[in-house]
Amino acid sequence: MKLTVVGGGSTYTPELVDGFARLRDTLPVEELVLVDPAAERLDLVGGLARRIFARQGHPGRIVTTQDLDGAVEGADAVLLQLRVGGQAARQQDETWPLECGCVGQETTGAGGLAKALRTVPVVLDIAERVRRTNPEAWIIDFTNPVGIVTRALLQEGHRAVGLCNVAIGFQRKFAALLDVAPGEIHLDHLGLNHLTWETGVRLGGPEGENVLPRLLAEHGGTIAGDLRLPRALLDRLGVVPSYYLRYYYAHDEVVRELRTKPSRAAEVAEMERQLLKMYGDPALDEKPALLARRGGAYYSEAAVDLAAALLGDGGGPEVSPGTRTGGSPYQVVNVSNRGTLPFLPDDAVIEVQAAVGPHGPVPLPVPAVDPLYAGLLAQVTAYEDLALEAALRGGRDRVFRALLAHPLIGQYAYADTLTDQLIAHNREHLPWA
Ligand code: G6P
Ligand code: MN
Repeated sequence: MKLTVVGGGSTYTPELVDGFARLRDTLPVEELVLVDPAAERLDLVGGLARRIFARQGHPGRIVTTQDLDGAVEGADAVLLQLRVGGQAARQQDETWPLECGCVGQETTGAGGLAKALRTVPVVLDIAERVRRTNPEAWIIDFTNPVGIVTRALLQEGHRAVGLCNVAIGFQRKFAALLDVAPGEIHLDHLGLNHLTWETGVRLGGPEGENVLPRLLAEHGGTIAGDLRLPRALLDRLGVVPSYYLRYYYAHDEVVRELRTKPSRAAEVAEMERQLLKMYGDPALDEKPALLARRGGAYYSEAAVDLAAALLGDGGGPEVSPGTRTGGSPYQVVNVSNRGTLPFLPDDAVIEVQAAVGPHGPVPLPVPAVDPLYAGLLAQVTAYEDLALEAALRGGRDRVFRALLAHPLIGQYAYADTLTDQLIAHNREHLPWA
């Protein structure tokens, strides 16, 4: 099996390689290609990746290259984890929205729109090249904003699935709190990427007992503390929102905080400097502990599970339950709605549990959604639709429409100012600007 990682020079790559090394029975990778335009990074990351494989006795070959077409040739799956403009562009996304009193975040709000506009054309170009050489290859997208990027890929007819680590993070957290194996926990997970709620926590599988009420009663304080939301809010809702919901439920509080501390981009850039220095040490042959301070915890487990399911032998959920690392044949992925959430358009991309096999993910049915969540989901879906229009076709007015539609912006004067800021800060990435 050949896998290609686009953005392979990312400091996250050792996380992924560590997962491939540990979980090689689930996913037997023969050749892992790391492709990245940044030659120096690629050298450092590639060196460590080879040492991780060697230490763990993994027989697979690791290739580093700057040549995308060669890298994707013959690949069974292509993982996208790139960041157009790097942390410098993220730093901008996290800063200028604050001037209007709006949240500055890399995937939520105006910053997320900027990221979408920079990223969608680049990802579509890569996907087109993958399809030309390898029409059967699966594209696994971690590149943010995952919902919009996945929708762009699916709309163009690519074999793509979007992935995020929020759900697997909750699964591991809840398993630890309940003192059960992670594979025992099945989440009723619903929403859009970075806009999700855990509405049930089941033991053993989708039909299992829902222990969410007990989890909240016994561990609500811990869960709320991690999310930095009041416990009373979780008790009133009776569900667990993802930490991205804090940008909505505590928007003004977050804006006040963000105004007084260094951006996450600056923190990450500093961590990346340290990480790359460590990666250059020929004695290092495992992922360093510092990597755990990045947001991507368990991302390698989720990726291995998903790739194994997509590239498997057709043994879907009924045939080989329990063989995957999480123990569950079901996985939370970003997938076309097609009626799963009936109040959203069919071509919206939603993030839900799905049965995943070689033919792709099939969402599990979702019970009726509380209007408290359905309303926000409908509005953000409309924003994502307009954001994709702006990313594909450009133009000031399309950017303005997307911003005006976003529930965290909504006012014309803010939308106008933010449109100007977005364009001014991203000109080099936007050919139409
Ligand atoms: C979580 C999200 C990812 C995001 C990451 C940011 O893992 O699910 O989509 O990229 O956080 O982490 P960072 O360390 O870059 O702030
Ligand atoms: Mn994510």
